[in-house]
Amino acid sequence: MQEGFVIWFTGLSASGKTTLAKEVERELRARGMRYVQRLDGDVVRQDLTRDLGFSKKDRDENIHRVTFVAELLSKNGVATTCSFISPYRKARETARVRCHNFVEVYVQCPLEVLIERDPKGLYKKALTGEIKGFTGVDDPYEPPESAEIVVHTGQETIKESTDKVLAFLEENRLIPTANENAASAQVSAGEGK
Ligand code: ADX
Repeated sequence: MQEGFVIWFTGLSASGKTTLAKEVERELRARGMRYVQRLDGDVVRQDLTRDLGFSKKDRDENIHRVTFVAELLSKNGVATTCSFISPYRKARETARVRCHNFVEVYVQCPLEVLIERDPKGLYKKALTGEIKGFTGVDDPYEPPESAEIVVHTGQETIKESTDKVLAFLEENRLIPTANENAASAQVSAGEGK
């Protein structure tokens, strides 16, 4: 059976959490992993946590519910990715304790770069005061102190950051290496003859 784990991407809005989670997901499936689930802030907030806003209480509740789902998935052999700002260290530490094979990825990117990127126009609104309590502008973000992986999306390519995550998972025997996958595909092809 596939070993379950949780790759928890944390970082400011527009830092690249979703992009990386999608790339990692694509690569895991390419390596023959069948049980993969991505949990994403923007998606989860339209459904499971659509009643919540962005106060500390609501953000903690958002992460609490997602942690519950990620715990169940990871304990049942699912490779799970979570991409949430998850600004509070304590909430992330609770997720770490509850989930099976928790891997924290700090998606670091300088605020100047994020303001420049601003794909949803939210930084502009936050800077002009149209949105209040925006993470990194006028709401706190507590960076991880001992994340398993730190990626610097202001400097690295998407591939470089994705490869860091995959290398960690390979080293910890949580996913097959690309070579192992090719070898097992050959064996299966041979069995089918
Ligand atoms: S978390 O803080 O509770 O972890 P989550 O990752 O689910 O946040 O959602 C963040 C997304 O909500 C952002 O990418 C952005 O699109 C949107 N958003 C809306 N208001 C805010 C805000 N005040 N702070 C941060 N993100 C916000």
